[in-house]
Amino acid sequence: MSKNNRSFKEKNLKKLKESTAQFFIFAEDIDSTPSKSMNVFYNKKMELNRDITVLAVQGYSELYDKKELTFIDSMAGSGIGAIRLLKNCANIQKMVINDINPSATRLIEKNLELNNLLDRPIEINISRKDANLLFNEIAQKSFNEESSSYKKPDIISIDPFGTPNLYIDSLFKAINQDHGLLCITATDTPVLFGVRPKACLRKYIAKPLHNNFCKEIGARILIYFISRIANINNLGIIPILTFYSNHFIRLFLITFKSKTEIFKSMGNYGYIIYCRDCGHHFAINFNILNKTIKCKLCGAENLDYAGPLWIGKLHYFNFIKKINDLNKKSEFVIKNNQRIANILKFCLDEINMPIGYYNVHTLCHQIANKSIPTMDVLINKIQKEGYKASRTHFDFTSIKTTMDIISLKNLLKKLENGVD
Ligand SMILES: C[S@@+](CC[C@H](N)C(=O)[O-])C[C@H]1O[C@@H](n2cnc3c(N)ncnc32)[C@H](O)[C@@H]1O
Repeated sequence: MSKNNRSFKEKNLKKLKESTAQFFIFAEDIDSTPSKSMNVFYNKKMELNRDITVLAVQGYSELYDKKELTFIDSMAGSGIGAIRLLKNCANIQKMVINDINPSATRLIEKNLELNNLLDRPIEINISRKDANLLFNEIAQKSFNEESSSYKKPDIISIDPFGTPNLYIDSLFKAINQDHGLLCITATDTPVLFGVRPKACLRKYIAKPLHNNFCKEIGARILIYFISRIANINNLGIIPILTFYSNHFIRLFLITFKSKTEIFKSMGNYGYIIYCRDCGHHFAINFNILNKTIKCKLCGAENLDYAGPLWIGKLHYFNFIKKINDLNKKSEFVIKNNQRIANILKFCLDEINMPIGYYNVHTLCHQIANKSIPTMDVLINKIQKEGYKASRTHFDFTSIKTTMDIISLKNLLKKLENGVD
């Protein structure tokens, strides 16, 4: 008998708690490393992903004034993410909780009962479909009922094993076109961060770079890819939060349908040029005929590139402010709220900073410094010299700055030698 068809007895289950929700998972999965081979997938480490999603949905509802939300959790596993949303986001009126695994959908029903969610005046549908089929059925329904009041879902979440790339096209066919919210996870970070560059070219049609700021490059490749697929569906996207942690990227993107704005947003497509000799880097837009063939800083011709990718903003200031406020008030619901507060602060800091970042430890090692200044000291010194500088949420030992890398190394040498 396959794992999925095993008898479903309570003695085979174990009750766990996350935030204000209780839920069952299979007892024999408790000690296994989270993987596809679990009876029903659950990863404790992804609690942070679910925390930030609760905050993002609350923030979206307030900021975009959406009062009656329809939410599709297309890959729900045990249903823990959906249950947390149902318990903490008052404006959800309708929820579809889907997973292709039959054991998952049965467990979802049990977990909804456990949390007394089945007798609430909210429409909850559990479904067991391939996510692409589910999205295409929603699209079909909207064609059939075009003249009536059928409303496409406001929010769709996809949280697949590895890459989300195969679901993006149908996702855009299903989502509300006017300020819908997409919540998309990618866990294939070795691909996006350039450890497996050929796989990145294949899956995302873009060349990654495995350098010091590969995490930001990876996030930008993912956004570019999604935005391109949006465009062929006559839509555009605005990233309102780009969240990296624990080997996953979670994107929160708003849809729009103005053709003029879509065309303008293509100004956000480009490449990052990276000097393999000195580490200087800069973004260029799609017009590669303007490409500089030498490093603008050191003159080397040892240039490499990443892309095509997104060179526009990664976050929306008002959205992060909003979920930061919600996070402050959420200490009983969001266990990781202090950690999230730190990450959100760095997201705010990096909003108006240039693309890329410098790892301070690597720079100090390259110039044979024995000591490493604290981030605060270094940022302060850079700012005193008239440049912008900030931390980045992508890497807690890196900084973003408008100062060029040679001046930055000189400054680090001066700090090492106690010269002010
Ligand atoms: C990473 S887990 C999701 C975990 C869940 N969101 C959570 O927070 O615990 C991925 C889930 O997607 C489901 N899945 C995989 N392929 C799918 C598909 N094509 N359509 C729908 N669900 C799928 C798996 O059964 C699995 O439960």
